[in-house]
Amino acid sequence: MSRYWYTREGMENRANRFRQTKPQPVITMDYSIGQHDFVNAGKASGDIKLALKKIGVDSAVLRRVAIACYEAEINVTAHAEGGLIHANIFPDLIQIIVTDTGPGIDDIEQCMVPGYSTATDYVREMGFGAGLGLPNIKKNTDALFIESTKGGHTVLEIIIFYE
Ligand SMILES: Nc1ncnc2c1ncn2[C@@H]1O[C@H](COP(=O)(O)OP(=O)(O)O)[C@@H](O)[C@H]1O
Ligand SMILES: [Mg+2]
Repeated sequence: MSRYWYTREGMENRANRFRQTKPQPVITMDYSIGQHDFVNAGKASGDIKLALKKIGVDSAVLRRVAIACYEAEINVTAHAEGGLIHANIFPDLIQIIVTDTGPGIDDIEQCMVPGYSTATDYVREMGFGAGLGLPNIKKNTDALFIESTKGGHTVLEIIIFYE
């Protein structure tokens, strides 16, 4: 079992408080992601961005959410056997939980290193595999939590505050 926990400087208390109080989301959105389904990858991030736009979230925040969610979506499409994107929208933040059915990650720290990629030739031919997805997710989130087991599934949780 490998775990990775990151909070942006100054955001740790807010993120912890949110995770401990477990409030009820105002809107929830669910998407399933198929293995190697690059045609539909990007649907969840696009829809979620629109939903946040409708409730008046700032465009700079929309961009951060879209980037983080898109990279997570692409990772499930490219590296996993399929999975789910579940978004919980709150008045002050969005939480995106991405789960997949495997094959899991052995060393998450290594996967966070810019340029590290295990993408197959097929995935590279599709234009992915630069090894910048996870670093980009980290750069755009206020909190990032990843839990994975080699041979098991991966759970990735993203929290982004609107202000
Ligand atoms: N959902 C996942 N399941 C299994 N491995 C993953 C998953 N997401 C990321 N990885 C691993 O982390 C590596 C780095 O991911 P990332 O930074 O997004 O780069 P890239 O997707 O371009 O390879 C991947 O190459 C893969 O080995
Ligand atoms: Mg990636």
